[in-house]
Amino acid sequence: MQVHELHPALSIRNLTLALSTKHSVLYPVRDLSLEVQPGSLHAIIGESGSGKSLTCRAIMRLGPHAMTIRSGSIHVGQTDVSTLRGHELSEFRGSRVGMVFQDPAPHFNPAKRVGSHLIRTLERRLNLTAEEARSRFTELLERVGLSGRDDLLQKYPHELSGGMAQRLAIAAAIAAAPPLLIADEPTTALDVTVQKSVLELIDELRRGMGLAVLFVSHDLALVEQYADDITVLYAGTAAEQNASHRLFVAPRHPYTQALLRSRPRPDAPVPPSIPGVPPRLEQLPSGCPFHPRCPAAIDPCRSDRPAPTSWPDGGQSRCHVAARNAGVTE
Ligand SMILES: Nc1ncnc2c1ncn2[C@@H]1O[C@H](COP(=O)(O)OP(=O)(O)OP(=O)(O)O)[C@@H](O)[C@H]1O
Ligand SMILES: [Mg+2]
Repeated sequence: MQVHELHPALSIRNLTLALSTKHSVLYPVRDLSLEVQPGSLHAIIGESGSGKSLTCRAIMRLGPHAMTIRSGSIHVGQTDVSTLRGHELSEFRGSRVGMVFQDPAPHFNPAKRVGSHLIRTLERRLNLTAEEARSRFTELLERVGLSGRDDLLQKYPHELSGGMAQRLAIAAAIAAAPPLLIADEPTTALDVTVQKSVLELIDELRRGMGLAVLFVSHDLALVEQYADDITVLYAGTAAEQNASHRLFVAPRHPYTQALLRSRPRPDAPVPPSIPGVPPRLEQLPSGCPFHPRCPAAIDPCRSDRPAPTSWPDGGQSRCHVAARNAGVTE
């Protein structure tokens, strides 16, 4: 057995997140488990509002103030993130996990020149001398495909193109060589060719540095090309999980099937959208959260929340119909 199999870079176990609002407590993520091994890319897909970003934020402990872990756990390496406090938490963000968002702006200070600012951050965060930080900066630029761009020392954030800003955001996220990178729709704001080059960069880092990547995207073509494993989230619940090459070939949950059918294809540039809308957190349906939109729903789907069924190929899904069709007792 390889050593990394003993310790996933990220391990989420039966995670339920609670969000306290004025009137009630909402559960944007329910009973979610997933693992990301070093050197692999795990993608979370699902419609808007399914809980993808809150999951990422919970790992970084960057959630909204009102959000807590109701049950379950999140480990990065062997660290239980819920135990981190003050100084440990800021050390953890950056040195143990890097995060890249859709909008790279929060990585930069609009009033500071990006290169010089990154160098000063490196000095502080990695405890480097000015000279060491400068050489680490040059190394990082090379890593993110910007070698020789010393002119970035003089540039302000508003002078950067979207692709360049995202590359620098990735450079900042991996500056301290964290074992885990969380990328929440890192390419959504970029045009198609730049999207591909940023994904290629993340992929290279994954291979070259053995970086574990948790990747959120709406772009199923990118996910199919780059992900090793996939979690399909629906209303905060993992509808289906499997290795990417299996999930795209043989999706078992009607929601995954509908999601895959809704992809644009050369022969159907305007694909069918999934009828209906995802439920509001305040009004989650009983039973399977997808049942009001599910063409295959049967009685138990309306009343009983499906337990995960594990499949012989390593995947699992929460669907009464798929389990029944396969003759599996739940
Ligand atoms: N600060 C908050 N207070 C209350 N509800 C919130 C808050 N942040 C998110 N939510 C709700 O939690 C649910 C999950 O949100 P989340 O941002 O994780 O969705 P998402 O899957 O990332 O969606 P998108 O694809 O649009 O980015 C949504 O219903 C959202 O409205
Ligand atoms: Mg989001």
